[in-house]
Amino acid sequence: MAPPHDDKAAAEVNDDSTPKRPISNVLFIIAMQTEASPLVNKFQLVEEPESVFPKGVPWVRYYGKYKDLNINIVCPGKDKILGVDSVGTVSASLLTYASIQALQPDLIINAGTAGGFKAKGASIGDVFLASDIAFHDRRIPIPVFDLYGVGSRQAFSTPNLAKELNLKVGKLSTGDSLDMCPQDEAAIVANDATVKDMEGAAIAYVAHLLEVPAIFLKAVTDIIDGDKPTAEEFLQNLAAVTAALDLAAAQVVDFINGKSCSEL
Ligand code: ADE
Repeated sequence: MAPPHDDKAAAEVNDDSTPKRPISNVLFIIAMQTEASPLVNKFQLVEEPESVFPKGVPWVRYYGKYKDLNINIVCPGKDKILGVDSVGTVSASLLTYASIQALQPDLIINAGTAGGFKAKGASIGDVFLASDIAFHDRRIPIPVFDLYGVGSRQAFSTPNLAKELNLKVGKLSTGDSLDMCPQDEAAIVANDATVKDMEGAAIAYVAHLLEVPAIFLKAVTDIIDGDKPTAEEFLQNLAAVTAALDLAAAQVVDFINGKSCSEL
């Protein structure tokens, strides 16, 4: 048997160390270019000419000022061999680590698409704010390693933001596959997840490691417990749902402007 779960150790708690000064640097981490481009345009950001990242990596950074905020949007960019967006946890954790080191953000916003469970109240186009994030594809059936594999973290708590923007709140489960095998399904149920993505828990892990507040905005492109094939439904809804995600992300930024983390 594993020892009882230490919620305090696992959680990204909002404690006395939460800065009271206004947020100045916001870092968006967005896996797909299609998801990032409308926000880059909305905030009139520019692509950096001299990368802050190591030479040769495909990671892309857009930056600029919006209201009182310095905004950075980083994307993992195109896979160096296959030329598709570098989705998934490996790229996401590397990019998060390097971006925190280079940009010293006050707040991370991981914005992206997700699959949703209609049995848990998700519909296509809904934008969720994740309360908790965990992995569903790291099975290590040895005491304590089992909990390490699940890697549960709490998102930075933002009750005022959720209320003001009327966002749905739910738990997010992360794995490196778009589809869902029976073992993943069992773990997602155990995680009590409403939405499922491919980056969130990796970003939460690094943010927690480096003690940066992180929030997770996830827009539903496909219904996992529905009758349509996931990949088909995802591609069909990607553009329209990205518009909903970007609208919500812009509202989040407007809400954040002038506030400290403890006011969120
Ligand atoms: N992103 C969008 N839909 C997804 C799904 N069903 N699983 C994982 N990531 C997703």
